[in-house]
Amino acid sequence: MDIIPCEATLGATITGIDLSTNLDDETFCAIEAAWHQYGVLIFPEQNLSDDQHIAFSRRFGELERMITKNFTDREEFAWLSNVKEDGTLWPHKSEHGLYLEGNRGWHTDSSFKPVPAMASLLAAHQVPDTGGGTEFADMRSAYDALAGEMQDYLEDKIAVHSYLYSQGLVGGLSVLDEAEQDALPPVEHAVVRTHPRTGRKSLYLGRHASHIKGEDKLESRALLQKLCDDACQAPWTITHIWGAGDLVIWDNRCMLHRGQTWPGDQARVMARTTIAGETTNNEWTL
Ligand code: OGA
Ligand code: MN
Repeated sequence: MDIIPCEATLGATITGIDLSTNLDDETFCAIEAAWHQYGVLIFPEQNLSDDQHIAFSRRFGELERMITKNFTDREEFAWLSNVKEDGTLWPHKSEHGLYLEGNRGWHTDSSFKPVPAMASLLAAHQVPDTGGGTEFADMRSAYDALAGEMQDYLEDKIAVHSYLYSQGLVGGLSVLDEAEQDALPPVEHAVVRTHPRTGRKSLYLGRHASHIKGEDKLESRALLQKLCDDACQAPWTITHIWGAGDLVIWDNRCMLHRGQTWPGDQARVMARTTIAGETTNNEWTL
């Protein structure tokens, strides 16, 4: 197994390993250690079957249920696909296209759930000729670079995260039925998180973070936006240009990500499993 770090504070490409096999514990621990160090691991050309994708995902922890039963035949997967069942494409500006478009804003998966996701594993099934890359940003290094006064100010701050807020700004909410929307009330999370395995602090924000609890809504929203804008800059970002068959895993506790747009007349089909945060009490686990 070769671990090739990206030229940034995050990310590494791992080659010389076949994730479709049943990895021994030693190999898996080496992958997990690299993941904790780099935050994002890119495994090119794995071409995993759905069952292999799920089996590898389960090594990291329990899987999370998705927010809608639409567009997936297996509850373990979120399918991010612009291809309809009949093979034609959803236009970017359709309700389904807008639902996907939410991913173009910097975010961390499931931060709108009471127990936010630990990890996501995204596999490329069909990729466009151009565009459709995914960017990642390192919230540990961005936190480290903040002025001490700002770190102190943020230390005990709580942000309110809401999917109905964030997706409401983009559109496409009607993809979720009423019960699915009702299951997503606003939740609260610390703005500064300490990683349970590495002990590193990081910023925890992104598009689902509406405002800071107890502060002026618009002012604190502007502060969160500014922190996010400042954090999502070189050398704390990488972009992965997908090849079909690639698998990428990222740590939602300390990384943000966003998807780039692609030509609307081309198919892009991605499948994601999501690893639940570590707790014994999570209504979203499968
Ligand atoms: C995701 C996501 C972005 C992309 O899978 O959680 O935000 O590039 N994806 O598809
Ligand atoms: Mn995402």
